[in-house]
Amino acid sequence: MCGIIGYVGKKDCLKVLINGLEKLEYRGYDSAGVAYIKNKKIEIIKEEGKIVNLKKKINFKIDSNLGIGHTRWATHGKPNYVNSHPHRVGKITIVHNGIIENYLELKKELIKNGYSFKSDTDTEVACALLDYIYKETHSIEQTLAIFKDKAEGAYAIGLICDDNLDYLYAVKKDSPLIIALGKEENYIASDVPAILEYTNKYITLEDGEFAKISNDKVIVFDKDAEIVKKEIKVYDGKSGDLNKNGFEHYMLKEIYEEVEVVKQVTNDYIKDGIKSLTSNMPKLGNYERIDIVACGSAYHAGLVGKSLIEGYANIPVNVELASEYRYKKLFLNKNVLVILISQSGETADTLAALKIAKEKGAHTLGIINVVGSSIARYSDDVLYTKAGAEIAVATTKAYTAQITMLGLLALNLAYKNKEMTEKEVLEALDEAKKLPTNIQSVLNEADFYKTIARKIFKHNDVFFIGRLTDYALALEGSLKLKEIAYVNSQGYAAGELKHGTISLIEKNTPVFGIVTDTNIASKTLSNMKECKSRGANIIALVSNDLKLDKEIYDTLIEVPKVSPIFQGVLTVIPLQLISYEVAKLRKCNIDKPKNLAKSVTVE
Ligand code: AGP
Ligand code: GLU
Repeated sequence: MCGIIGYVGKKDCLKVLINGLEKLEYRGYDSAGVAYIKNKKIEIIKEEGKIVNLKKKINFKIDSNLGIGHTRWATHGKPNYVNSHPHRVGKITIVHNGIIENYLELKKELIKNGYSFKSDTDTEVACALLDYIYKETHSIEQTLAIFKDKAEGAYAIGLICDDNLDYLYAVKKDSPLIIALGKEENYIASDVPAILEYTNKYITLEDGEFAKISNDKVIVFDKDAEIVKKEIKVYDGKSGDLNKNGFEHYMLKEIYEEVEVVKQVTNDYIKDGIKSLTSNMPKLGNYERIDIVACGSAYHAGLVGKSLIEGYANIPVNVELASEYRYKKLFLNKNVLVILISQSGETADTLAALKIAKEKGAHTLGIINVVGSSIARYSDDVLYTKAGAEIAVATTKAYTAQITMLGLLALNLAYKNKEMTEKEVLEALDEAKKLPTNIQSVLNEADFYKTIARKIFKHNDVFFIGRLTDYALALEGSLKLKEIAYVNSQGYAAGELKHGTISLIEKNTPVFGIVTDTNIASKTLSNMKECKSRGANIIALVSNDLKLDKEIYDTLIEVPKVSPIFQGVLTVIPLQLISYEVAKLRKCNIDKPKNLAKSVTVE
């Protein structure tokens, strides 16, 4: 949530800031703004809405070599001009990502000390607090050290001070921030893509650290305000991921990338038979239970993982929403493995759940897409999903990579626990090898999915039903339609529908019946019949080994039958593409749906 960029160097600062903000727009797009130094004075330009609106107000000929920029996802106060960042109080100008939880308390104190506020944001309070401390200390380093003790909550802050116009400052706790290193120039950013055009070298700030940055020097201070030497990392992702490569939307491009992504995910684990599976996964112990903790689609991936790990490795698995997990009573010890699934690796609730699980002595494993992200860094072990940069707010390729990885993990645990023989595991790995070809064959039906989208796009209520893994996929299909097409859809356990929800089925209500689990196919098919008897328009999404009575469905989508371990990887693709097409027909903003943001760094 919120994208931060900062620059100091010889380049044209405004161009760098806007370019960086455009790369970060997936993190929030309620308003945008920049602060830059012109003729030794700080100027601020901001505007409501997307970066394109801000761009119209900017004179790119202005000569400036230092500045900060922000694209906002509002948490405190409406997404309007006054609340947009940068905020300026006294001699301090800041951009902020996160939430200052004790801002009301601080605000009261600051008002008593003569401050007044224009905006409704917690950020302006943070800015005033920084100014207040600075007036006492006359040193930004000391100010930041004191600020950390007074401000509660999460923050990544980029700061400029009127008295030190050659420096950018940064401080962070629980929200991501990197410092990127160029030649006679340096940057701060929420995420690597913002600066990848200029440099791939960066430093990650840890919680409690802060930094003083000029064009030729970066000084980082640790929690105790002591200078600390930081490791310089080199990002090895491709900047090509950041372009649409001829596709109309990032989401569509990312769905088509699934062929390559699944190749990437599986490659290390299939190239050399059983050895590559066992030696390339982290060495895991014998666990009495596994908790999978995640949010949104990653949580849905966790539900697929539960079916697979319980079914094949015979270990009980709980799947929990991170926002609930972090506040509930937990039964954790060293015999429990806690798996955190996250594309961004920065989701605030998942990160908090990780910290709690570690404190309570559980072993933690991150299944993460963004290399070097906070959850990846703090987890005891990491499995990277290698899906590349995902820009569309709605996840597609990263979700597919997650469930592929969970399938491989289930196989690994099943082999380790002697629940599967070597021969059985090798057979499953052979199926993994064929996945890219099978994905391509599902994608080849894209025109057919368009016709389905045309039939259903005017409906405001859509149902997705299935059992076990198919239920987990139903939840994901439903979320896709809700988030990008604004259709009020429901993902439901097929057997649960008749306990109330079936009353919502009317003539022509679209119901997707997902059936790929042969053992319980007849049960879900009966539930589909129950819906059809009440007038529903049944779209059956099935594996092609099932021969369905024509009376059950109105439309039939078949995907290749593969091992249940990898079946979800194929079955979810038609759901992703149909949601995409429905969103397009409904003229929605597909890559940047309203009210959402890609990386949810607030709770
Ligand atoms: C996915 O389409 C959503 N936008 C959202 O549910 C997402 O999966 C969730 O916020 C978790 O994000 P993460 O994977 O980066 O932790
Ligand atoms: N709390 C700040 C605001 O509402 C920053 C929001 C965020 O980082 O998402 O402006």
